[in-house]
Amino acid sequence: MPLLIKNAEIVTADQRYKADIRCDGETITSIGPNLTAPPGGETIDATGKLVFPGFIDPHVHIYLPFMGTFAKDTYATASRAALVGGTTTLIEMVCPSRADDPLESYELWKSKAAGQSACDYTFHMGVTRFDEKTPDQLRKIVADGTASFKVFLAYKGAFGVDDGELYQTLALAKRLGVIVTAHCENAEVVAQLQRQLLAEGKTGPEWHEPSRPPVVEAEGVHHLATFAGLTGAHVYVVHTSCCDALREAQAAHNRGVRLWVETVIPYLVLDKSYAARPDFEGAKYVMSPPLREKRHQEQLWNALAMGLVSTVATDHAPFDFRGQKEMGRGDFTKIPNGIPSVEDRVNLLYTFGVAKGRIDLHRFVDAASTQAARLFGLFPRKGTIAPGSDADLVIYDPAYRGTISAKTHHMNVDYSGFEGLAIEGRPSIVTVRGKIQSRDGQFIGDQTRGQLVHREPTHG
Ligand code: URP
Ligand code: ZN
Ligand code: ZN
Repeated sequence: MPLLIKNAEIVTADQRYKADIRCDGETITSIGPNLTAPPGGETIDATGKLVFPGFIDPHVHIYLPFMGTFAKDTYATASRAALVGGTTTLIEMVCPSRADDPLESYELWKSKAAGQSACDYTFHMGVTRFDEKTPDQLRKIVADGTASFKVFLAYKGAFGVDDGELYQTLALAKRLGVIVTAHCENAEVVAQLQRQLLAEGKTGPEWHEPSRPPVVEAEGVHHLATFAGLTGAHVYVVHTSCCDALREAQAAHNRGVRLWVETVIPYLVLDKSYAARPDFEGAKYVMSPPLREKRHQEQLWNALAMGLVSTVATDHAPFDFRGQKEMGRGDFTKIPNGIPSVEDRVNLLYTFGVAKGRIDLHRFVDAASTQAARLFGLFPRKGTIAPGSDADLVIYDPAYRGTISAKTHHMNVDYSGFEGLAIEGRPSIVTVRGKIQSRDGQFIGDQTRGQLVHREPTHG
């Protein structure tokens, strides 16, 4: 059904202006003053609202076998939650174990989403081992439209690659023109520190951070940057939590390494004191890299404002407190890592970033949508508002006031890491390729609207 949005205050990464937006089929067809209502279509009056391009979360986990259990969301629940929170495209990490066949795993991850997702989606292909078959398999996956890889320098024995595998993955990525996203922590040091802390009887969730201190993450970033410099590959550091890692990223830029930095919403809002909450409640706040001392937050916000941090993602990884996080009572190394936030990212970034004056509206749109679109081969189909782009639109109400709670969220997980936090602003209407999927905090759309988005390599 054609859609006309009247009196829109359009905000993109570099423009802000008033106009009407007309969508026909799945795309934006015209933007301008006094557009006429399409016959048989729907007209929305956006007076008083801001209209943003659909937000893109470039780092989520939905199907995730991890630490002896599975993340709780399905594509049905995660995509509905994403849409209610203004995210119209998800990029999920395919995370096979070292023993799994990459092509079979890729097909398995695709099958979890096919026909189940209410929003659009695509994948980063996890490379968790590299052998003689890998180049051929990865070429097929890239040809299928998945033009980015993921490596883990952490999680020794599970997803982690060794230095030979890292080198070969980056060298292949360079040849194929695809970007490599990377979890940067020194796995060997983490294993040593974990053993040491447990031997000293330090078993609670508050010891998770000391087992992975900032220097361990900074070393990971330096390590990745060294290998990227050697191979010429383009790399993207996921979930950056601390200023030590930012310094390594800046140093890599100064050497000419093509490296981009992501942070995730928990690091911008929460800090390590949450993981020390009594009665094991701290386990809700265990993720890797860990939540840091509060002093890191202002530096992350500054780096985001200045552009050293390109994107704000979630690293959405939902594990229930009851029965899953509880697996780590008496041993913090067994707490499934992750903080759910796919529904909350945009509202938290608006509230703690824009409303508090830390970032302007353009940086907000850029970090939560446009940069991810540019880096991962989705632009200009997604990440902007322009004729010819997908009609993924967020009509945002900056006057809304509310509170985050697990009692009202749509994610399939029994707690919220942001319980009780007040938010300023939320999406009023969210469209996916021209169809209204969410309205005022409720999913009202078509559960099977979402499509797998094909991406070409753009890092040649
Ligand atoms: O704690 C985290 N980050 N959980 C999800 C897996 C990962 O490392 O991204
Ligand atoms: Zn990670
Ligand atoms: Zn992750």
